[in-house]
Amino acid sequence: MARPNAVFVCGSCGGETLKWQGQCPLCGEWNSLEQRSPARARPAAPAAAVSLGAQARPAGDAQRFGSGQAELDRVLGGGIVPGSVILLGGDPGIGKSTLLLQAMASIGVSRRALYVTGEESADQIALRAQRLGLVNAAVELLAEVQLEAIVGAIRTHRPDVVVIDSIQTVYTEALESAPGSVAQVRECAAQLTRLAKQTGITILLVGHVTKEGAIAGPRVLEHIVDTVLYFEGDTHSSFRLVRAIKNRFGAANELGVFAMTERGLKGVANPSALFLSQHGKAVPGSCVLATLEGSRPLLVEVQALVDPVQGALARRVAVGLDPQRLALLLAVLHRHGGVETAGQDVFVNAVGGVRIGEPAADLAICMAVYSSFKNIALDIKSLVFGEIGLAGEIRPVQRGQERLREAAKLGFHRAVIPAANKPRQRIDGMEIVAVERINEALGHLRG
Ligand code: TYD
Ligand code: MG
Repeated sequence: MARPNAVFVCGSCGGETLKWQGQCPLCGEWNSLEQRSPARARPAAPAAAVSLGAQARPAGDAQRFGSGQAELDRVLGGGIVPGSVILLGGDPGIGKSTLLLQAMASIGVSRRALYVTGEESADQIALRAQRLGLVNAAVELLAEVQLEAIVGAIRTHRPDVVVIDSIQTVYTEALESAPGSVAQVRECAAQLTRLAKQTGITILLVGHVTKEGAIAGPRVLEHIVDTVLYFEGDTHSSFRLVRAIKNRFGAANELGVFAMTERGLKGVANPSALFLSQHGKAVPGSCVLATLEGSRPLLVEVQALVDPVQGALARRVAVGLDPQRLALLLAVLHRHGGVETAGQDVFVNAVGGVRIGEPAADLAICMAVYSSFKNIALDIKSLVFGEIGLAGEIRPVQRGQERLREAAKLGFHRAVIPAANKPRQRIDGMEIVAVERINEALGHLRG
């Protein structure tokens, strides 16, 4: 049977079909299919298999190298793996270019570093490097957006590490759709990934998060690359978080913390202090949570404001916390804690722009809501953690000991925690209040 050599790619979803149609069969978009140039069709060569044990270049820890940014290395699982492809996503202006320029300047000391810029001119990058105090950095700059030219330059220069800033500006001649379209972004990333795997060159792709919250549409790049990092944080505050969403070479959900200063990004080694707002004395509506970010325990202040309804409908707003979870917790508070928040607007917020996804935050949210509602302040040196079930029970969370130890280190002396998390041995200077039900926990609220 003859192999079909024409493939049609949808400019909207990136899906492929073998037949041209007016409407993409995958996403339903009209007039979005275009033929991919047959020049890309590879000649059929016999594939060679290698034995796992004899694989010559395993991506081992021994070959990892540092980026000069300890917090970035931590998120990557202990440094950069040669030949890996790393996607750094984030909102425009969050600091992606700044971080990678700083990293490349360090890498350039002992390795060949190439920075390909499609967003800014080489002059602008040089100016930024100057502001960052990286004047003598051994980083080669290339202002180029055409994929074939970039690949050519990489093959000639043979750098060890390449930054493509950003993948949305790169386009290949093989497709007619506009740069930044899903088909272009996917095709360019796939070709660069192939190049990285063939040559052992590490490629860092910068990707802007689009309005839908995904990079270049429906998460088109996440399965192509080895590691996906997201740059988060409130542009109004100077703290930035880099989170690993996927990592073939390390743990996902690892977190790196940076502060944006006038001289670029600086790693923050002890981040717990950032997420606690420094109240002089206890205030109602505030509760300290010991959460876990990747492998790292982190103390975060959860705030709540409960106030009589201002509009026609009661508002429930969660910033940095799960809004669905908030609705559920308010129902549990009502049924099992006797706290009636109908007729009240409820706002909750995780301080410092951090986002908390784990259910261990449940108890902190309930305590903060109750504290604001009753206008009673919690002791500022107390912390909580615990998941809450629909029956009002407090469930254990993972790695309770580590959370408690981090809190003790920071001078906290009282913890309200799930009974099942009660440590067998005493933790110095820490009073443990073990609770089994939500109403019990609320009873321990005191200033
Ligand atoms: P940038 O790295 O250009 O963001 P991205 O590449 O993600 O779009 O970061 C730009 C922001 O960072 C800009 O608002 C200015 C700020 N900034 C500093 O505060 N200090 C610095 O030293 C630098 C270089 C930038
Ligand atoms: Mg940029």
